[in-house]
Amino acid sequence: MTDQAEVLRRMVSQQHSDGPRIVAVTSGKGGVGKTNVSVNLALALIELGYRVVLVDVDLGLANADILLGISPEFNLTHVLTGHKRISEILADGPNGLKVLAGGSGLYDIANLSSSRLDAFAKAIESLNEFDFVILDTGAGIHKNVVSFAVAASEVLVVTTPEPTAITDAYGVIKVILQHNPESSIHVVVNMAHSPQEAELAAEKLNTVARQFLGKEIHYAGYILYDHQVVSSVAEQRPVLLAYPSSMTSRAIRRIGQGLIGTELREPPGQNRVQRFFQRVHRLLRV
Ligand SMILES: Nc1ncnc2c1ncn2[C@@H]1O[C@H](COP(=O)(O)OP(=O)(O)O)[C@@H](O)[C@H]1O
Ligand SMILES: [Mg+2]
Repeated sequence: MTDQAEVLRRMVSQQHSDGPRIVAVTSGKGGVGKTNVSVNLALALIELGYRVVLVDVDLGLANADILLGISPEFNLTHVLTGHKRISEILADGPNGLKVLAGGSGLYDIANLSSSRLDAFAKAIESLNEFDFVILDTGAGIHKNVVSFAVAASEVLVVTTPEPTAITDAYGVIKVILQHNPESSIHVVVNMAHSPQEAELAAEKLNTVARQFLGKEIHYAGYILYDHQVVSSVAEQRPVLLAYPSSMTSRAIRRIGQGLIGTELREPPGQNRVQRFFQRVHRLLRV
């Protein structure tokens, strides 16, 4: 029997000249589970045979490293100031996951000269060896947050079923689509108390998006409220590793498999990583 992971891997490597898929995990409201989704989704993609780097671009509450129980010495600031190359500062997470810590230096992207940006874009060429770049962003519609999601083209919006979270998720989706109408938006409903509650929340979001933005939102799936997630955070071990057969781990694997099947088609012949950083630069500057 054909190994599914191998087939998937080949499908991705055919695309590989374009560079990795860049997926931003974002939300309207804070504390809805972005970092947990980012870290565990990254690990689920690794289980499927992909090479994944997690980049923490949450400028306010960078904490992917805490969830992974690692403490990288260097972050993107050191790359921007020319003191380090990205290949030198990629930290080792579990199972071969690579982690690029964020830090306040990302604000400086806005102030980079074009020549400096070119140099920076070259420096990040080492990310081309990956199949996926997962960006753990901050919450909300501030320019510094949304720029990463806009530039990524593929966005996973995390929400809970709470009306406030759904409303804020809609706000973020609206801003992202204003800047990038081609953006592929996926929604994960986290901390739901039943699949029905999650589906209802996703449907509400999709209804307003369809009506007011003329856009179809992909429902990427749900994660139920799970005390094992709370325990895994306390243990600083991602739930996928701490509780591999928990309902949350299975839910995240399903979301990862769904993502594999919905690749956004972009114009070929351009490198996604460079395009991404050029877009971030442009967006932050205005
Ligand atoms: N599915 C879940 N079930 C229970 N608690 C959760 C779940 N997802 C997240 N949490 C809780 O929410 C907290 C915030 O999650 P986090 O991923 O840090 O959110 P964000 O990155 O959006 O701020 C976690 O520390 C955890 O306690
Ligand atoms: Mg977070």
